[in-house]
Amino acid sequence: MLQKLIMINIKSGREIELMRESCALAAKTLEYIAPFVKPDVSTLELNDLCHQFIVKNKAYPSPLNYHGFPKSICTSKNEIVCHGIPSKKDILKSGDIVNVDITTFLNGFHGDTSQMFLIGEVDPKIKKLVEVTYQCLLLGIKTVRPGSKLGEIGAAIEECAHKNNYSIVEDYCGHGIGREFHEEPQVLHYDTKSSGPTLRPGMVFTIEPMINLGQKYTQLLKDKWTVLTRDRSWSAQFEHTILVTETGFEVLTLRSGEII
Ligand code: MF3
Ligand code: CO
Ligand code: CO
Repeated sequence: MLQKLIMINIKSGREIELMRESCALAAKTLEYIAPFVKPDVSTLELNDLCHQFIVKNKAYPSPLNYHGFPKSICTSKNEIVCHGIPSKKDILKSGDIVNVDITTFLNGFHGDTSQMFLIGEVDPKIKKLVEVTYQCLLLGIKTVRPGSKLGEIGAAIEECAHKNNYSIVEDYCGHGIGREFHEEPQVLHYDTKSSGPTLRPGMVFTIEPMINLGQKYTQLLKDKWTVLTRDRSWSAQFEHTILVTETGFEVLTLRSGEII
C-alpha cells in the first residue's frame, strides 16, 4: 500500500512543558468567558473580553490577523459550522447554541480549544446534538495511544455520530499544533481504523469534530471566513489539544472539573 509521506513533529520534554502552559491558558480563557455567554451579549463583547484576558496573561490571540482573520476568537452560532467572526450585531438569545473557539500563542507555542454553550432554553433535539458531539470528541480522544493509527480517532467519531443519524463535516479537520497554528497531520473526523500515520509519544494535535443535524455539506460566506451548513441545519463542535504520551494521551486543554 502506498502511504503519503508526512512529517509529524515530535515535541521534546521542554517543548511539551511550554505547550502545556499555552494550552492551559486557552482552557482558562474558556472558563473565564463562560459566565458572560448569556442572552443579550454580543459575540463582539465576548471577543473583546477574551482578547483582554489573553493579553493580560502575556499571550497573543492566535486568530487575530491569521491569514487576515479580523478578530481574536471565533464564535460560531447555530447553523454556523466554524470560523464565525464576532460582531456587535450578533446578539445571543435564548435557544441559541454557540461555539467559542480560543487559540492562544504563549511561549512560542499555540494552544487550541473550543466548546459549545447553550443559551437559555434550548430545544431538546439541539441539546442532544451538542451532547453527542462532546461524546464524539471523548471517544476520539480515548483511542489515542502510542502505536495506534490516527484513523482510529475518525473511526470512533464516525461510529458515534452516524449511530445518532448525524453527519460529520469533511471540509475541515483537526490538525497538528505547536510552533505553528496548523501543522501536520490532518486529523479527519471520519476514517477507517487502519489508515493514517502511527502515533508516537510527543505528537500533539487537535481533535475538533463538527457534527451536523442535517447534511455534511458546507458553504463559505462572502466574508471568506464564516462556514455554514449548506442546508442551514444546526451544527455543533468541541475541540481539545491532545498530547500522545508514553502510555496513552494527555488532554492539554482540560478545563477544571472536566473529567475525561
Ligand atoms: N481555532 C480554529 C481551529 O480550531 C482555527 C481558526 S482560524 C481563524 O483550527 F483564522 F479563523 F481564526
Ligand atoms: Co484547531
Ligand atoms: Co480552534
